[in-house]
Amino acid sequence: MCGIVGYIGNKDSKEILLKGLEKLEYRGYDSAGIALQNGHGIHVFKEKGRIADLRKIVDGNVTAHIGIGHTRWATHGVPSKTNSHPHQSASDRFTLVHNGVIENYDFLKREYLSNVEFKSETDTEVVVQLIEFFVNEGLTVLEAFRKTLTLLHGSYALALLDAKDRETIYVAKNKSPLLVGLGDGFNVVASDAMAMLQVTDKYVELMDKEVVIVTKDQVTIQNLAGETINRKPYKAELDASDIEKGTYPHYMIKEIDEQPLVMRKIIQTYQNEQGELTIDSEIIGAMNDSDRVYIVAAGTSYNAGLVGKQLIENMAKIPVEVHIASEFVYNMPLLSKKPLFIFITQSGETADSRAVLVKVKGMGYRALTITNVPGSTLSREADYTLLLHAGPEIAVASTKAYTAQIAVLSILAEVTAKSQNIKVDFDLVHELGIIANAMEVLCDSKELFEHISREFLSVTRNAFFIGRGVDYYVCLEGSLKLKEISYIQAEGFAGGELKHGTIALIEEGTPIIALATQESVNLSIRGNVKEVVARGANPCIISMKGLNMDEDSFIIPEVHELLTPLISVIPLQLIAYYAALHRDCDVDKPRNLAKSVTVE
Ligand code: F6R
Repeated sequence: MCGIVGYIGNKDSKEILLKGLEKLEYRGYDSAGIALQNGHGIHVFKEKGRIADLRKIVDGNVTAHIGIGHTRWATHGVPSKTNSHPHQSASDRFTLVHNGVIENYDFLKREYLSNVEFKSETDTEVVVQLIEFFVNEGLTVLEAFRKTLTLLHGSYALALLDAKDRETIYVAKNKSPLLVGLGDGFNVVASDAMAMLQVTDKYVELMDKEVVIVTKDQVTIQNLAGETINRKPYKAELDASDIEKGTYPHYMIKEIDEQPLVMRKIIQTYQNEQGELTIDSEIIGAMNDSDRVYIVAAGTSYNAGLVGKQLIENMAKIPVEVHIASEFVYNMPLLSKKPLFIFITQSGETADSRAVLVKVKGMGYRALTITNVPGSTLSREADYTLLLHAGPEIAVASTKAYTAQIAVLSILAEVTAKSQNIKVDFDLVHELGIIANAMEVLCDSKELFEHISREFLSVTRNAFFIGRGVDYYVCLEGSLKLKEISYIQAEGFAGGELKHGTIALIEEGTPIIALATQESVNLSIRGNVKEVVARGANPCIISMKGLNMDEDSFIIPEVHELLTPLISVIPLQLIAYYAALHRDCDVDKPRNLAKSVTVE
């Protein structure tokens, strides 16, 4: 979703800002812009489309030691040059970039700005006009900025320039992520550390409703009352090479290939010196104290949560409910007496999940966040965190985070079971090792998946994924991958459910991708395949060794049946990847999607 960068220092900011925006491209956007401030004023360049399009219109002759930049994912107003950021106040004195949604923008416009002529349809323009309005009323810039913030309802990360002050970037945040990066003779602002890793790895976290005055030599954090807050910086543990594509054509395929490595990293990180899997005793205590676990998540993370339910119920014998975050906020089920909430979120910033976290924390319940991003909002605000250790995931379509989420959930289930002396009939460390090897085999079979993808998906307008038990959950993920990057309309179904309505959609040649990795339902899922084949469907069966039959298109290596999602998803990720390539789709940046969904 929207991304923000800012620079103030001794160097020309233009290239630093553009490179920073390129690093934020993965979050998803539809337009971009920068504002460069020098002795001649503030120069704004913005364009609909990609950063590459923005580069073409930025005047190479403009140099500036202070600037801000933005990638926009449209919420209020269509994607267009006019609606893209930065936005300027009526007199052009103030220039602002914003990430988030101002819910009461219409009210503020009517209440304070009825005489102002607006250029865009955005909520952001209201904020910058309000700042100017209060300055015109006699407040200092800082006072006007603070006053404006007190009136805003909703989420925001803001960076503001004042044409009369070349020494300061004003910054604030509420609910939307924003960091300040520290350098020698310069400071930067960024939605995430990756954007500015090119110039610094030293960052200061900002909390909601703080105001920050950033100059080239100083960063002053204040609360809304104007009191100064001291906060220590931290070092961003990111390797610059982690966020480069290297020799890969796309981040998605790089991240699919990284899955064996991530499995091994997770095993190592969660092992103690005796080689046993271990998790902070407070987290295990919270699991054992709870009478029901509520997993809350969105999208791919929700799909991982469904597999997590199976793991926790089977291994640790604690009942689990899995909920879609955006529904849970408004439609909360009757809770058990001692619930524990688990938030699964790759980014740690998803607004829908955060809204639930805030609500259940307000009700006094305990919460654990499972995330890939240390220091992210959901990590900070929950009682406990478990990290995925998957390395930055840049492609919009989540792959390695999904398998990492399932692996961490399996470890949580195992350690909880052991703490209660519940016998787990397999050695998880050993099984995860086997899975890492099996993942390698699958990643080495790319040509086959390219072929399957061409055969089944190159011309179709829709596709169905069917499975039973955990295979069904993986089908939900496989269909999500396919639709988000190839735009083929794809749905995942429980094998037995298809004939209760959806089978009406099966026509001659409709591709059906079926998973058959569960012994107890192997014959029934094959029966479901026969039902659709009888109506003309073109079946692609992916089975597990030992359960395979002659008609199968691909056989995955044998792993423990509770853990099959960790590998059965890889063929589906690869098939989706190649389907997108065959259709000339922008694999890493699919249309309309954002990586970090920071609005509800
Ligand atoms: C799909 C995908 C999304 C995310 C969802 C939640 O490939 O990545 O469905 O899973 O937006 O995001 P996180 O996990 O960051 O909370």
